[in-house]
Amino acid sequence: MTGASGTVGREVVRRLPPEHALRVMTRRPAAYGETRPGMQVVGGDFTDEDSLARAVRGVTTAFLVTSPLAAGWDERFLRAAHHAHVERVVKLSAAAVLDPGADDAITRRQRACEDIVRTAGPAWTLLRPRAFMSNTLTWAHTIRTERTVRALHRSSPVACVDPRDVAEIAVHALTEPEHAGHAYEITGPAALTAIQQTAHLAHLLGHRLHCQEWGENAARTAWRRHHPEPVVDALLHSARRQQAGAKAHVRTTIPDTTGHPARPYTTWATDHLTAFT
Ligand SMILES: NC(=O)c1ccc[n+]([C@@H]2O[C@H](COP(=O)([O-])OP(=O)(O)OC[C@H]3O[C@@H](n4cnc5c(N)ncnc54)[C@H](OP(=O)(O)O)[C@@H]3O)[C@@H](O)[C@H]2O)c1
Repeated sequence: MTGASGTVGREVVRRLPPEHALRVMTRRPAAYGETRPGMQVVGGDFTDEDSLARAVRGVTTAFLVTSPLAAGWDERFLRAAHHAHVERVVKLSAAAVLDPGADDAITRRQRACEDIVRTAGPAWTLLRPRAFMSNTLTWAHTIRTERTVRALHRSSPVACVDPRDVAEIAVHALTEPEHAGHAYEITGPAALTAIQQTAHLAHLLGHRLHCQEWGENAARTAWRRHHPEPVVDALLHSARRQQAGAKAHVRTTIPDTTGHPARPYTTWATDHLTAFT
């Protein structure tokens, strides 16, 4: 498992049935927080090919979480996996790869990474989730300090998904052979706008919240502090696609695969409410 300390990966670790031996790769093994019987935690870094070779030795199935902003990670990991005769790779990708209008640098890279996985040798499964509900954790600070959410195109809907549902599908893909050669688009149960998510949070918190339009100029200025210009452009492009309705369709992958309804935003928010208080 790569990405095992991340949003989706840590939920996969919690859900993987105990009969499956598990090796977790992280840059900081001593800081890794999850425990389970028989789990191995090893050091590894996508920028260090030797560490990847050590991490995949003896592995039959790999969960691959990379960043579409980083060059070479998928290539290096898949090379190591192929050499080590890894039989299957389940990759966390993104629903944007399916959007015909998505031609930004991040989505182009995500599509290229999918191609690498499909042609590397091991059997593959691609998971393509829509935006994670947990992205709204970025609102926590201004909710706590100003009772305000600042969102770009606040009335545009996205069929956001609970990362725990993505993790459940990942567990099916990792443990059941019939998912090899398949790609799954994964959405939540409804398309919600930032205004609607803010209203749900306000209801659960028991006080008013204001959802303010952030504006492209303010978003660009804030993102420039953390990202290079092509990434900022890609994020703005993605927000405009959302405004045009490209992210609103709902898929039934979660109920079809797990047998239970996709978790609604109110469930995610209830379970993470302390982050906003
Ligand atoms: N957020 C969304 O709305 C969304 C929607 C669709 C798809 N996605 C996709 O989901 C993926 C991210 O998943 P996530 O949100 O679960 O991850 P995350 O919470 O961002 O965690 C990142 C993980 O990557 C690992 N990592 C970072 N740098 C590394 C390196 N140099 N070598 C090895 N491991 C490294 C970290 O492990 P350590 O720190 O332990 O080393 C950590 O476990 C991306 O591909 C993204 O495109 C995200």
